[in-house]
Amino acid sequence: MYIKIMNNPIDILITEHELIDKLLRVLQDRLSTMKATREIDNQIIDITADCFETFINRVHHWKEENVLFTELYKKDLTDKHRGIIDKLSQEHVVGKKLVYKIVEAKHKYETGEKSGFDDMLEYLEKFIALYIPHLRFENTEFFPEALQYFNEEEIQHLDELFNQVESEAVIRNYSLILDGLETK
Ligand SMILES: [Fe+2]
Ligand SMILES: [Fe+2]
Repeated sequence: MYIKIMNNPIDILITEHELIDKLLRVLQDRLSTMKATREIDNQIIDITADCFETFINRVHHWKEENVLFTELYKKDLTDKHRGIIDKLSQEHVVGKKLVYKIVEAKHKYETGEKSGFDDMLEYLEKFIALYIPHLRFENTEFFPEALQYFNEEEIQHLDELFNQVESEAVIRNYSLILDGLETK
């Protein structure tokens, strides 16, 4: 059992997982409807793409990869934990690719390529199948074990670094949008 203190950064990640879990549940539900009706649910695809980019990728994964994993790498990690961090990072990359493929397949379908519809459903299924165990594993196995590497002061420091991610994510978000406009 990990140390329970105020602003425990692991609790912050677990709370963020609840939001991602909610997205996955709605997505699963809408996916079943899309399979039955053979009609694209634009709302859920747009929300998934936006939520992934602005929250999951730029805030949540950033906290895990650029704060938690980075701080863990400074420790004398066991091979098991090094392997887990590599696997989790790799799954983030796969998740990002799947979201890109979902949007791309939807676009294909809308521009006349009928196969785009089933491709989109397949990538959505893969996305859900990837994240449900990913979140569960982080919550129940990885996070409690990862926390054992840090003392109370270091945990407080992780929390401060997490807070920086929040504000920097907003700046990163608009920098990317405006950079995109400048090059057009
Ligand atoms: Fe993760
Ligand atoms: Fe996570």
